[in-house]
Amino acid sequence: MTHHNLDNHAAAVAVLGLGPMGRALAAASLAAGHPTVLWNRSPAKASALVAQGAMLAPTVADAAQRASVVIACVMNYRAVRAILSGLERPPSGTFVNLSSGHAAEARDMADWAAQQGVSYLDGAILTPAPTIGTAAATILYSGPRALFDESLPWLESFGGSSAYLGADVGTAAAYEMALLDLFTMSVGGLAHAFALASTEGIAPTAFARFARGIGGLLPDMADRFAEQLTSGTFTADISTIASAASAVAHVRDAATAGGVDPAPLQAVQSIIERAVAAGHGGDSYARLARSLVPADPAEAAR
Ligand SMILES: NC(=O)c1ccc[n+]([C@@H]2O[C@H](COP(=O)([O-])OP(=O)(O)OC[C@H]3O[C@@H](n4cnc5c(N)ncnc54)[C@H](OP(=O)(O)O)[C@@H]3O)[C@@H](O)[C@H]2O)c1
Repeated sequence: MTHHNLDNHAAAVAVLGLGPMGRALAAASLAAGHPTVLWNRSPAKASALVAQGAMLAPTVADAAQRASVVIACVMNYRAVRAILSGLERPPSGTFVNLSSGHAAEARDMADWAAQQGVSYLDGAILTPAPTIGTAAATILYSGPRALFDESLPWLESFGGSSAYLGADVGTAAAYEMALLDLFTMSVGGLAHAFALASTEGIAPTAFARFARGIGGLLPDMADRFAEQLTSGTFTADISTIASAASAVAHVRDAATAGGVDPAPLQAVQSIIERAVAAGHGGDSYARLARSLVPADPAEAAR
């Protein structure tokens, strides 16, 4: 394939940003045989990849002019802006931002890119750096379909699933934020539960044996939430919001008694109690997702 020709800069991929994720993307691109141009604010991070055949560009502008697809993977959108503000002309190829942020930031960046004449695709990496280049990688993309299709031969080298979500450039970031919400709240729950168990002298390994089972409930619950939120029917076949209200009160008391910060439980308790006060105590947990969005016109109409 022509894009494997090392002399053909137009077929290269550029990776801007060489943190753990940028390095993983660059390594996967090299492993797939693509000419790979690198740039990082701290150039020393490129050395291992250069030893594997990547080319280190002296400036962002140089990297951006030498590739068909220019990937940015830095800490946040502010860093992307900082990098791009140094460019005097648009990148030669499609600019694909894989740095994390929320949907409005992606849309602002796309507006800015349009003003600069830059072809812009946004993406969100859902899996950790070690998955990149393996079947376990999942990366979401949104923005102009044609840009995704044209860039796919390069994006596919990152492995696993490259999912196109639609023309609204903010969609990939929106998914990333909601999934990070689930992840961070789950991690917070795990930390809180281990802390509470420790106040009663329960050994971490003994506790983990049963904690695993709670995590195992979530996949089926996600499907049930989806089904009920889609149908708008919150029949409680299993547990009601009222039963959750009583459970959270017990746990909060136990946390307070054990000297564990009850603040995370208070936050959940107030969400549950608002739903009960609004008359939804007999409904299933999925109703809580509706109650959290009081401005939702669908909710107001019910
Ligand atoms: N690591 C993962 O497993 C993972 C998983 C999913 C998503 N992500 C996302 O991927 C992105 C990159 O993550 P990461 O783990 O590689 O590391 P990171 O710590 O989030 O970002 C490090 C990179 O950002 C650069 N950077 C930060 N501020 C900058 C600025 N003002 N100007 C220019 N460059 C700047 C750093 O340059 P220097 O080297 O010069 O400091 C480095 O290249 C993040 O948005 C992260 O949320 C990461």
